[in-house]
Amino acid sequence: MSGKGGSGKLWAISDLHIGYQENRALVERMRPEGDDDWLLVAGDVAETVEDVRWALGLLASRFRRVVWAPGNHELWTHPKDPVTLRGAERYAHLVEVCRELGVTTPEDPYPVWEGGGGPVAVAPLFLLYDYSFLPSGSTTKEEGLAHAHGTGVVCADEYLLHPDPHPSREAWCRERVALTAERLDALPADLPTVLVNHYPLDRHPTEVLWHPEFAMWCGTALTADWHRRYRVRTMVYGHLHIPRTTWHEGVRFEEVSVGYPREWRKRDTPPGRLRLILPAEEKAS
Ligand SMILES: [Fe+2]
Ligand SMILES: [Fe+2]
Repeated sequence: MSGKGGSGKLWAISDLHIGYQENRALVERMRPEGDDDWLLVAGDVAETVEDVRWALGLLASRFRRVVWAPGNHELWTHPKDPVTLRGAERYAHLVEVCRELGVTTPEDPYPVWEGGGGPVAVAPLFLLYDYSFLPSGSTTKEEGLAHAHGTGVVCADEYLLHPDPHPSREAWCRERVALTAERLDALPADLPTVLVNHYPLDRHPTEVLWHPEFAMWCGTALTADWHRRYRVRTMVYGHLHIPRTTWHEGVRFEEVSVGYPREWRKRDTPPGRLRLILPAEEKAS
């Protein structure tokens, strides 16, 4: 264990998808180990605002702090949700709900984790994707999408995640990346970070996707150097529903998804376990 920082543990989870009753039951069992623990939630809590409110509210009542970054499912304007807001207005509404619950969002000052392994700035990000993770053989978004329609692997975002008032999801992504880089640039130059985003900031985790064309909806090449540029201790993400740890240029990437019941039932490990981010377990030396 790292001797730096105070007490408490920094945990992470994502892709709760509590529209599934079995997943809701997993969230009901999620608890901190101690009074000072924080929980990072890297998106895909649910498709309706009411379900998002339920899950984040419950977790916020248990953890000292809950930090949320939106997933694509929260941003869907789903026919089942009485809240019919689209795009930026929907995102702003979710941020409001989080503020009522005391949950930290990408629109809030980045809190500094002073517990075990700290101090570290914890930055929840909302960056979206821009179709730059193209499948091999494609050089443009249009070619990539045509390929995806051919194989039948098309993300439901194409029908449910509206970019309003932006002209496109990639335009919204570019705006978010620029805004976010400005805020991260303003952090103290000696403060390491934990970055929390629904998508990996580097493309490497998508290389194991069963359907490589799905990578188009999994991030942006604009953030490919962020793990170095922002002194990242750990990059926390989800969305792929492939929970694992990878190392890229010496930086730890953690995919922390719960996933759908049909996915987690097949795994050997118990579902819905929180991933420890800090203090990082030291490798034996
Ligand atoms: Fe998901
Ligand atoms: Fe997702």
